[in-house]
Amino acid sequence: VSGAAAAAIYGAALRGEWPLDPAVTYLNHGGYGVAPHEVLAVQAAWRDRIERNPTRFMVRELPDALRAAASAVARYIGAAPEDVVFVDNATGGCNAVLRSIDLAPGDEILVTNLGYGAITKAARYAAERSGAQVIESTVPLPLPDEEAVIAAVAARLGPRTRLAVFDHVASHTALVLPVAALSRLAHEAGARVLIDGAHAPGQVALDVPGIGADWYIGNCHKWLMAPRGCGFLWAAPAIQQATRPLAISHGYGGGFQAEFGWTGTRDPSPFLAAPAGIAFHDRLGGDGLRARNEALARAAGRLLLDAWGTAIGGPEACFAAMVTVRLPLAGPGTDERAWELYRRLSDEHGIEVAVMAFADALWVRIAAQAYNERADYERLAAVFRA
Ligand SMILES: Cc1ncc(COP(=O)(O)O)c(C=O)c1O
Repeated sequence: VSGAAAAAIYGAALRGEWPLDPAVTYLNHGGYGVAPHEVLAVQAAWRDRIERNPTRFMVRELPDALRAAASAVARYIGAAPEDVVFVDNATGGCNAVLRSIDLAPGDEILVTNLGYGAITKAARYAAERSGAQVIESTVPLPLPDEEAVIAAVAARLGPRTRLAVFDHVASHTALVLPVAALSRLAHEAGARVLIDGAHAPGQVALDVPGIGADWYIGNCHKWLMAPRGCGFLWAAPAIQQATRPLAISHGYGGGFQAEFGWTGTRDPSPFLAAPAGIAFHDRLGGDGLRARNEALARAAGRLLLDAWGTAIGGPEACFAAMVTVRLPLAGPGTDERAWELYRRLSDEHGIEVAVMAFADALWVRIAAQAYNERADYERLAAVFRA
């Protein structure tokens, strides 16, 4: 499908490009990603090629193939190819960075209450091993404006902050954070900066070096159409030598690319299919697709807000292809209730949507991808009107 042709057929008409169950209203594209048939076929072709002669492939073909794929990702994020390596996912990439930092007792890692729980736990683990501590900035929710994020972070940065971790697109709230401004702020305080961009590639415009962080981690398997298990790590040149993969292997001492390029025997097909994901995203419109998804998500947020008379998780301008809307339900916002509600929406209504607990209430986080259309969100709206 060409960009222009795709524009005419976004929505349910395009759904056949993905293996998604037609009986399910899928409003959680970002949760785990959904790879299109075409990209899965490219991945399968790589697997076939590997299996024809695994020894030859691993020893002689993989290094170049991997660098070619990493170069395609680098081009997409505006980076130099040599500054980008693959990691399995954002969790692995963030853990690698957190373990690469030398912390001393009394040092601090700054995170925010918007951070992804698993990464905050990884920061706690890194801190606890060295007598350091994790400091959490509290951003008010629903978010009044972008300034509130800056102010919350500024209030907790200090002389002992060694590392600040900021999400590019925050998971629970779907808020897009001002990562360039936050990076500047943290650097001024003398801290290093890790941006967790798990949800960003393919969802927001990306000029990774321009953000000015020390490390940036992204997933290609969420919004960039790659098969699951395809993340990348960008590191500023000055910090690459000190950045180690989670598994030390043959590449040890050989530099950033060599160390991350071999971390033990694994299936490299998700990495090798990343360029196919980027190509598919481009063919559906690239920036045009991102703009269309953003417009649809924001319109869907308004639709739900009108239907339920509740609240949006922040200013509309702070959302991209996901929006959080408060559910019209009384009672506490607990993870247990969120889980039960998610389960009922899935089992009883055939709607896959993330249900989140924050700001002492329950929220849905809706996503908009090329295969979604307004009717999907009308179905969700109707569940709670009934
Ligand atoms: C901000 C953030 N960080 C990390 C992750 C973890 O991503 P993965 O499971 O691919 O490691 C997510 C997943 O949604 C996320 O939203």
